[in-house]
Amino acid sequence: MGLVTGTCFAETGNKVVCVDIDKAKVEKLSAGQVTIYEPGLENIFLRNLKDERLRFTADLASVVDEAEVIFLALPTPPGADGAADLKYVLGVADELGKLLKGYKVIVNKSTVPVGTADKVRAAIAKNYNGEFDVVSNPEFLREGVAVDDFMKPDRVVVGTRSERAQQLMSELYAPFMRQGNPVIFMDERSSELTKYAANSFLAMKISFMNEIAQLCERMGADVDMVRRGIGSDDRIGKRFLFSGIGYGGSCFPKDVQALVRSADEVHYDFKILKAVEKVNAAQKLHLVEKIKVHYSGNISGKHFALWGLAFKPNTDDIREAPALAIIAALLAEGATVTAYDPEAMQHVQKVLGDKISFASSQYQALEDADALIIATEWNEFRTQDFESIEKLLPSKLIFDGRNLFQVSKMQALGYKYVTIGRPE
Ligand SMILES: NC(=O)c1ccc[n+]([C@@H]2O[C@H](COP(=O)([O-])OP(=O)(O)OC[C@H]3O[C@@H](n4cnc5c(N)ncnc54)[C@H](O)[C@@H]3O)[C@@H](O)[C@H]2O)c1
Repeated sequence: MGLVTGTCFAETGNKVVCVDIDKAKVEKLSAGQVTIYEPGLENIFLRNLKDERLRFTADLASVVDEAEVIFLALPTPPGADGAADLKYVLGVADELGKLLKGYKVIVNKSTVPVGTADKVRAAIAKNYNGEFDVVSNPEFLREGVAVDDFMKPDRVVVGTRSERAQQLMSELYAPFMRQGNPVIFMDERSSELTKYAANSFLAMKISFMNEIAQLCERMGADVDMVRRGIGSDDRIGKRFLFSGIGYGGSCFPKDVQALVRSADEVHYDFKILKAVEKVNAAQKLHLVEKIKVHYSGNISGKHFALWGLAFKPNTDDIREAPALAIIAALLAEGATVTAYDPEAMQHVQKVLGDKISFASSQYQALEDADALIIATEWNEFRTQDFESIEKLLPSKLIFDGRNLFQVSKMQALGYKYVTIGRPE
């Protein structure tokens, strides 16, 4: 998030220095190597690096003085109890307190619980008694389309009660709002909660559709039809209604969990969100259950091709990816897996080593497989030459967790095609 934010601010003419404690990352980025896969990022990254609007350092102390605005884009992973761990955010706030010499705006872009702006303020004020403002500015970009989202946001939310900080934030974001979308100013607490509310609402939409899919499977209805039927109602909207194998990624799971814990802390039992988490955990393994049903409960010795490891297409991010839960369940049942993903294989290899095999193409993955499992809806999986696939996969058996193909077409081609929430 920090790299996309920094690059996009440089793209609109600002001078940006990105600070990271990971020296190897700083070295790679300084040498022109983008460290994540994100469509459209490399071009603008290289241009701004060349034009010296963008640079990287591991030395926070050396760049604080020259900065007018300091963005915090630090990790906020779940702690042992599921609440967001603020050690990185507050650690840097503490350091900043020791480094500030004049007025700065400290903007928190990390996803943080309500009240964090106050904690950041207090951490800075411990060592610094000059002027500064702390602003909450949650980030809504989506991985896979992060640059587009940042350059043309639906809205920017800014939490501050300081007019001086508000003025500065207005100027900074003006180039991104030329299409007329709003910068919404509010107090810090509402801003912090907005981010959790947005992610939790989206996660709830996914879990809701996954439960509708469960009903479809039991009632002989087709979730794709139900989705189209309800999505055409403006109040519901067409987006984010796809059933599948559950949400993953670095944000939804941790943010839903963190909001549940925050609610607990103020003695509110957030019942819907607890159900959202439960439904999602079960849905991640729903496809494995279907696979086991097909094999009468025993998949020991079976070999599966798996297409897709990233938690969603167009990213190499595998944090909380449903594919990893599926792999773990298959291996625990004595099956073996050969996986293919266009971008994420190296990351999975680091985690799983030689517990699974990796293929150099989606087709190579099919060699000697008893069945194909689809776990991520990469575009390149959508159009297939099923006659060639048949030669590599004589069983003609596909378990598709992302409903990529038409059921009727697959049946006409003689495939056994098992999907989510659609009649077989
Ligand atoms: N990934 C997303 O799509 C996304 C979207 C919106 C909001 N967010 C939020 O943004 C925050 C960061 O998420 P991310 O996915 O970019 O995390 P990340 O782990 O990919 O990046 C965080 C970076 O911070 C660095 N870091 C850690 N401690 C540091 C320190 N003391 N000083 C300097 N750098 C330090 C790490 O080395 C790492 O490079 C989280 O709160 C997340 O919820 C993420």
